[in-house]
Amino acid sequence: MNLSGLPEPERLIARIDHLEENSRFIQNALEMALSLGDFQKNINESHGPNRVLQEAENRIRKLISFEICAMCLVNEDNADMEISLCEPCDRKDYIQDEIAFMTENGFFAWALHEKRGIFVKSKDQKKDFFLHVMATCSRIRGMFIGLLPNEKQRIPDASLSLLSLILLNTANAIESLESYNLVVEQNSILEAEVEARTRELINYEKRLQRARKMEAIGTLAGGVAHDLNNILSGLVSYPELLLMDIPENSPLRKPLLTIKKSGEKAASIVQDLLTLARRGVGNREVVNLNRIIDEYLKSLEFEKLQVYHPGIRIKTDLDENLLPVSASPVHLSKTIMNLISNAAEAIPGKGEILISTRNTYIDTPIKGYDHVNEGDYVTLKVSDNGTGISPEDMERIFEPFYTKKVMGRSGTGLGMAVVWGTVKDHNGYIDVQSVPGRGT
Ligand SMILES: Nc1ncnc2c1ncn2[C@@H]1O[C@H](COP(=O)(O)OP(=O)(O)OP(=O)(O)O)[C@@H](O)[C@H]1O
Ligand SMILES: [Mg+2]
Repeated sequence: MNLSGLPEPERLIARIDHLEENSRFIQNALEMALSLGDFQKNINESHGPNRVLQEAENRIRKLISFEICAMCLVNEDNADMEISLCEPCDRKDYIQDEIAFMTENGFFAWALHEKRGIFVKSKDQKKDFFLHVMATCSRIRGMFIGLLPNEKQRIPDASLSLLSLILLNTANAIESLESYNLVVEQNSILEAEVEARTRELINYEKRLQRARKMEAIGTLAGGVAHDLNNILSGLVSYPELLLMDIPENSPLRKPLLTIKKSGEKAASIVQDLLTLARRGVGNREVVNLNRIIDEYLKSLEFEKLQVYHPGIRIKTDLDENLLPVSASPVHLSKTIMNLISNAAEAIPGKGEILISTRNTYIDTPIKGYDHVNEGDYVTLKVSDNGTGISPEDMERIFEPFYTKKVMGRSGTGLGMAVVWGTVKDHNGYIDVQSVPGRGT
């Protein structure tokens, strides 16, 4: 401003005007700098980076009247600069074209190197662009590209400094937003993991309790069974001896037979109790499970089961190449018998039982009803389309004496307990899947 030659008062007034304008500018600039704190709001309210860019552009416009404002963000996947905002938006193609030109001619690289605003010529050399990198102290986040108005006007240094401040803040806000989103994402992953672990722990606790309960009951049952076994041997053997001595038509014959039968029934319960106490699995041999199944299906016991349940079809699907196992055939046979009779008893009327065997290799532990470790197994599956088991019953079916059946013909409630004990003695695992009304 050339003020020389003016009369004294005008000079002073012009000087005052100039100072006032300066003061207004500084005041505006300070307010603008203060308002940059608002960027934080976008992060708190989970707005995306575009909202931050929009806010930045609004402020830049108030500072310098660019014809076009564009902002590029670095794509983290391929490190490309992509236009995220262009105002006015119908000039995006034009800017894209200019960006390609700037990249080819190394203008971008230059701006990145300078780490401040630079002025470059447009492709046709007729216009001027202003380039400014958006970077935090650790990372380049993007670039600001502004097309300067045609009529040449000097941009005050203070405005350029403020523009740098806005762009630094923009880069910081975008980085905070990214960190914030990352934290939120990690948090939800962690929450899901904690939930899964908790479920696993509860499951483990349940299995542990079940195993402890079975162990305690087994020990108790074993003690009782051991004593009863001795007493029962008299009850079974003496009627036999007496029956040999008394005449064929003696009226004592019937009651003696009843005593003998009751004794035998009691002995078989005691045998189950002994299995539970895990005292029985001594004589192991190498056996094929298929053979034991076949034998059971040919037994008198099975024939009797079929007489009681005439509407049931039995299907088998036995693996021809089933590997042999080291096991107690008597206990395996009992297990099969219990599973099949339970299946039959669960079918009211017509239904189907499927018995299948397979060689199974388990390479990752299964966390189901039982926690199954890795290894080679022979699996036996008995499925029925009977009444199914409710979730509440499922928790208790392996307990000794837990039964929903009428005491008498069947229903001591020892069947599944024996299955459990036998399977555990053979280093095996049990899984039960059941849908009430559909089958087990
Ligand atoms: N396949 C199945 N379908 C439906 N319920 C079943 C099945 N298997 C077992 N259950 C339920 O589990 C309970 C316990 O079975 P478990 O074999 O231990 O005893 P039980 O069959 O009642 O008597 P026992 O076997 O001593 O004659 C049964 O009473 C029944 O309610
Ligand atoms: Mg049973």
